[in-house]
Amino acid sequence: MEDLKFNVLKVLAGEKGFVSGARLASLFGVSRTAIWKSITSLRAMGYVIEGAPREGYRLLKVPEALLPYEIRRGLKAETFGERIEYYEEVDSTNDVARELAAKGAPEGTLVIAERQTRGRGRMGREWFSPEGGLWFSVILRPRLAPGEVARLALMLGVAVARVLNAYGLRCRLKWPNDVLVRDKKICGILTEIDAEMDRVNYVIAGIGVNVNNEVGDFPEEFRDAATTMKAEIGRRVARAPLLRRLLEELEACYGRLTLGDPAVLEEWRRLSSTLGKRVRVVTQSRVLEGVALDIAEDGALLLRLEDGRVERILSGDCVHMGKI
Ligand code: BTN
Repeated sequence: MEDLKFNVLKVLAGEKGFVSGARLASLFGVSRTAIWKSITSLRAMGYVIEGAPREGYRLLKVPEALLPYEIRRGLKAETFGERIEYYEEVDSTNDVARELAAKGAPEGTLVIAERQTRGRGRMGREWFSPEGGLWFSVILRPRLAPGEVARLALMLGVAVARVLNAYGLRCRLKWPNDVLVRDKKICGILTEIDAEMDRVNYVIAGIGVNVNNEVGDFPEEFRDAATTMKAEIGRRVARAPLLRRLLEELEACYGRLTLGDPAVLEEWRRLSSTLGKRVRVVTQSRVLEGVALDIAEDGALLLRLEDGRVERILSGDCVHMGKI
């Protein structure tokens, strides 16, 4: 029944006009009643399907929800999104992904939710995740040393910026991987790692993109500092095709990075709004101020302090204080 439903959907999605119940039934070698049951259950999932007595069925609208079938339709990525765990509501997709990864879920597993009740940001902050955004996590199992994961975190920002720029936005990256448009945050990335001394077990790449959610709904303290794709482009953006492009770009950049291609870091430098600025960097243990000089090959930020010393910082949070 599950397969039949999606096979019927595939045929309807490939036709502009009506497809008769008899044709569908003979195509799949089932009764017309079985086709009618599939149509009923697709309608219950949110597909709008017109039925006309002598003509058959016609697909008018696909649901707004990020159903796995809609995500997979035409997805060109090979492993990213091959397994999809979809939730209407979840505490945090990163937490679910962690549990799955610990139980051995394969690389590329995607966990996605319409809403998160306890979305997590970097440095222990909350991440506001109402309906309308893209809140997802991908399980990665890179063959990298733990010290190289910072480079991976930068790569995630580059991949997201590339895709959003293809929608006409002009994204810049704030170290390590905040994606900004007109200096306002449109996407945040939380990279979590489970590792031993010399090897990474898994990395959870948690990505939150403000898509069709309203800036006015953000908690007041974030309103000036955040934006959404809808606010920037002036119309709603279909999320399933956007997610497909993100998965494809993430997979491509990840492949290149794990093969040691330095081009992704070069692109990070080009897209960076941090390099050359005076910044304050907050790490788990210190607060440092200085000029952001460059990023090292392993992804560390190179910061020139007041006394001329250059510090390497692998993780932390950064505030831009102005041009030098
Ligand atoms: C930040 O900029 O502070 C990082 C925000 C990361 C948010 C995403 S949304 C999907 C995934 N699940 C979470 O709980 N957090 C990340």
